[in-house]
Amino acid sequence: MRKQIAAANWKMNLTYQQALELADGLLKTEHSLNKNQQVVLGVPFPYLMAVKEKFAGNENVFIAAQNCNDKKSGAYTGETSAEMLQSIGLKYVILGHSERREYYNEGNELLAKKVDIAFEHGLQPIFCCGEPLAIREAGTQNSFVEAQLVESLFHLPEEKLNGFVIAYEPIWAIGTGKTATSDQAQEMHAHIRSVIAGKYGSDIANSVSILYGGSVKAANAKEIFGKPDVDGGLVGGASLVAAEFASIISALK
Ligand code: PGA
Repeated sequence: MRKQIAAANWKMNLTYQQALELADGLLKTEHSLNKNQQVVLGVPFPYLMAVKEKFAGNENVFIAAQNCNDKKSGAYTGETSAEMLQSIGLKYVILGHSERREYYNEGNELLAKKVDIAFEHGLQPIFCCGEPLAIREAGTQNSFVEAQLVESLFHLPEEKLNGFVIAYEPIWAIGTGKTATSDQAQEMHAHIRSVIAGKYGSDIANSVSILYGGSVKAANAKEIFGKPDVDGGLVGGASLVAAEFASIISALK
């Protein structure tokens, strides 16, 4: 059975003290996660180690970086490499978030390189895809998302797609309070799975965890996660409040 994941994306929020408080708040909440369920916390770079240490010994909780550079190392002032993330024992890195695509010009080709370098350093990407409002209104979201997958992932050998993690985040639903309906999420998740099946076969497609992101909150998580092709969520705003995120975690299948 594929993994069910509640992933937090803290983005560029919280001071160090607030980040530790949030981590403590989450530690205090009760979770009885089974072995197919994971919590992933996408933490700002300066707090990665400290938050990781807070959850040491908590085998269902993993820490993710929110980005990495596509180059191995060298004179790239201000950047963080996959090798650095590996060296502090991380398992996950979020790649291709729509905010990185939009504000930092990250395109599908660059993201293919980031995916490769993440894998070279033992990191599992949480690969984000999703269409802007104009594409949704034009009704061409399926081919738009398909191109994101094909151009950034389909050079990978089969074993890398096995157990891969994708986050579908329609841009019009991020931070807007406007959630896709659970049926819209299911429709796109099924499409993503069928695109993967077309290239890699249905066993691989069924092993991929596809998370929904975009205004997920405690009040709608159960309904969205309940859909057959939705394997959890990537949560921004609502992940910054311990009690709220805790109830999102408990909505996992
Ligand atoms: P949101 O963000 O939950 O605040 O809409 C989701 C995301 O950008 O990952």
